[in-house]
Amino acid sequence: MSPNVHVFEDPRGLVEAAAKAFAEVAERSVREKRRFAVALAGGSTPKALYELLATEYRDALAWSKLHAFFSDERCVPPDHEDSNYRMAYLALLSRVPVGSVRRMRGELDPPRAAALYEEELKAFFGGPPSFDLILLGIGEDGHTASLFPQSPALEVRNRFVVESPVDKLRTPRLTLTIPAINSARKVAFLVAGEGKAEALKEILEGAADPHDYPTKLVRPSNGPDWFVDRAAASFLSGPT
Ligand code: 6PG
Repeated sequence: MSPNVHVFEDPRGLVEAAAKAFAEVAERSVREKRRFAVALAGGSTPKALYELLATEYRDALAWSKLHAFFSDERCVPPDHEDSNYRMAYLALLSRVPVGSVRRMRGELDPPRAAALYEEELKAFFGGPPSFDLILLGIGEDGHTASLFPQSPALEVRNRFVVESPVDKLRTPRLTLTIPAINSARKVAFLVAGEGKAEALKEILEGAADPHDYPTKLVRPSNGPDWFVDRAAASFLSGPT
């Protein structure tokens, strides 16, 4: 198994290790650049990470240097129960004194919201985005962020944020594109539960077309890190 795949007995172990890695990247980024730019993910495992960071790391991080962005968003208002911003706000961003929060505006017309977020990224980074850390989850269908199988969003190379209509879901999404994700210094996937085992096996070891498993397109220069629980890793070859 790749050295970048870290397997833990249960979701709690995964989240604790991810929090430690988050703190290390934050510390290094602040030391080197005097700021830490992180893109947060939606999903249940990231939520557990945010809650842990808000409590056990409350006094351990230079929160004022943290600038929070989002890797994707559902096209709903920020107070909607499906909003990734709302989840991250309640679990973390309202509980620690972060430097800034830049959310994707799910309440706007999706193409306009995507264009506005792209402008916001370029203004913050002074050009193409280069996140210090991007957190991601995967879906049972192989999606990551809101890059779904066979979506036209997978082909986009000249934009950093796009709208991503998803037929099987109620609402369209906004998402970082593959170029925005792959230019990050570190990408960390959080994957828990047996429901993810088949997709994870295909993503890490299978030969299927990346357009059917968009997570395969995530290839930052030093490779993503995988924080995985034993149930999700159960189909992987090699010692777990
Ligand atoms: C979202 C996502 C999505 C998510 C995965 C995993 O907004 O839903 O950002 O890509 O990370 O679907 O979600 P779970 O951790 O809940 O399984």
